[in-house]
Amino acid sequence: MSSRVLTAVAWPYANGPRHIGHVSGFGVPSDVFSRFMRMSGHDVLMVSGTDEHGTAIQVQADREGLTAQETADKYHRQIATDLQGLGLSYDLYTRTTTNNHHHVVQKLFSALLDNGYVMTQKSMGAISPSTGRTLADRYIEGTCPICGYDGARGDQCDNCGNQLDPIDLKNPVSRINGETPEFRETEHFFLDLPALADSLTGWLSKRTDWRPNVLKFSQNFINDLKPRAITRDLDWGVRVPLDGWRDLPMKRIYVWFDAVIGYFSASVEWAQRTGNPDAWRQWWTDPEALSYYFMGKDNIVFHSVIWPGILLGHNGKGDRGGEVGPYGELNLPTEVVSSEFLTMSGAKFSTSRQTVIYVRDFLAEFGPDALRYFIAVAGPENNDTDFTWDEFVRRNNSELANEWGNLVNRSISMAHKNVGAIPAAGELTELDQQLLAASKRGFEVVGGFLARNKFKNAINEAMRIVTLANRYLSETEPWKLKDQPERRDTVLHCALQVVQDCNTLLTPFLPHSAQKIFEALGGEGVWAAQPQLVDVSQDDGPDYPVLMGDYANEQATWESTPIKVGQSLAKPVPLFAKLDDSLGETGPSFAPISKD
Ligand code: MF3
Ligand code: ZN
Repeated sequence: MSSRVLTAVAWPYANGPRHIGHVSGFGVPSDVFSRFMRMSGHDVLMVSGTDEHGTAIQVQADREGLTAQETADKYHRQIATDLQGLGLSYDLYTRTTTNNHHHVVQKLFSALLDNGYVMTQKSMGAISPSTGRTLADRYIEGTCPICGYDGARGDQCDNCGNQLDPIDLKNPVSRINGETPEFRETEHFFLDLPALADSLTGWLSKRTDWRPNVLKFSQNFINDLKPRAITRDLDWGVRVPLDGWRDLPMKRIYVWFDAVIGYFSASVEWAQRTGNPDAWRQWWTDPEALSYYFMGKDNIVFHSVIWPGILLGHNGKGDRGGEVGPYGELNLPTEVVSSEFLTMSGAKFSTSRQTVIYVRDFLAEFGPDALRYFIAVAGPENNDTDFTWDEFVRRNNSELANEWGNLVNRSISMAHKNVGAIPAAGELTELDQQLLAASKRGFEVVGGFLARNKFKNAINEAMRIVTLANRYLSETEPWKLKDQPERRDTVLHCALQVVQDCNTLLTPFLPHSAQKIFEALGGEGVWAAQPQLVDVSQDDGPDYPVLMGDYANEQATWESTPIKVGQSLAKPVPLFAKLDDSLGETGPSFAPISKD
């Protein structure tokens, strides 16, 4: 396997803080994968940022009486704080309102235009009859022609998630004054997907190892490709880099075209910020480099069809041919990894329906690893999954606290009390050897699952070894071996070695507690690195917060490392709090379970 791995994580909209549905789709899986890949010796570049343009942000701004920029500033900082609190190890988490991003989007736009994959088309745009001016897409509301939802917006239906054109809406009205808009011919830029269809189909037909849900969605979509608008009647977004268009107040590059380019522009920004402006090439133009994209299922086609289409157009690889664009031949995704939805009592997590659990509240009350554990072991990896407090409490108490927390705690505490240090092993019995072999084998088995993004299988296998170790302690009963100190020390030695191995196996999932266990076993320095929220500056623009981290110097590696015999041990502090069973019935105060 190549040593370079790009982890590309979906960009959250700057229209509110994150809820646990969001981070279970794109957040925790991408971080578990990246941490595992780094531990296995790969050079990982994990990038994302806040998606700040487009209607969703403007609608929120109108609701709060703020400008779009103020709204983006507010939520970008909040979202970055949520993601940092969860320990998501981005090399760069940036935003789309940077000068760098605008510049890269415009360069890609021009490259596609030069190669003929972007062209103008006439379409019908909305005009306000009372003012005679263009009516922005977000100010038009009507009934969705696809699902019949009557609050669909001019560009998108929030109920079925389909992209719309204002003229498709049934009974369109202006949200400003209720009048019926008029439609007049207007010009927009379109991505010529039909000219890219053959190349896309050929490429997609070779992606046989992707998750079936992703392949199915993509293949259906690709059978019926039409030119897709990439500019819209908007006043918030990246300007079209052409004379006659640049200064038009109501024409901007549409959010989807700009957002997916973020993966690339963020890599360019990361390279600049780390002092080697060409470093991004190792992940984007080396054909051996691998790239994995993580998202919820409503985002699949943008990553499996539209973004590859943009890349092919830039590379000059569609029916119209063309030159390789200014950035050199860019890699298409190795894999698009999509999860399903986390629901709450059957409803997709949604802020408007009030079924919302914010990451920030969850972290303040239960800490990051409890949430990470739950998402990994019980999240929507392959099916829509209902979140219940009951199940959260059960998993937290019986698995995280009783199995893993208890194994760590009793092993270290017995060694501390009886020996004061990590004891040496005497002669090993068959039972000792079996246990040690099981945890060593774990690296291959768990690692095999993680490399294929099978998170549930991976964590279940790691937890199976934890259970084996607990059973080993129940069978050997070291607490009854006061008069056989050598045998007791051997058992404690084996238990501590397996604690160390399991801690390594669980590090991608539980990096915060892994750091503490590493220290409890006498380790010094950084075992699992965490992202930092820092303010950075740019030329000709305001400073802004990003997440970055020094992951290259963390000590965690994907292998069994021997414990340090003789290392003194302190009395351990419990790692995972047990939650009161009543929480399963009432929910916490920030998200109470309603009685009706
Ligand atoms: N902002 C979009 C959403 O929340 C996701 C954008 S992913 C990107 O649905 F790749 F396009 F950035
Ligand atoms: Zn709809």
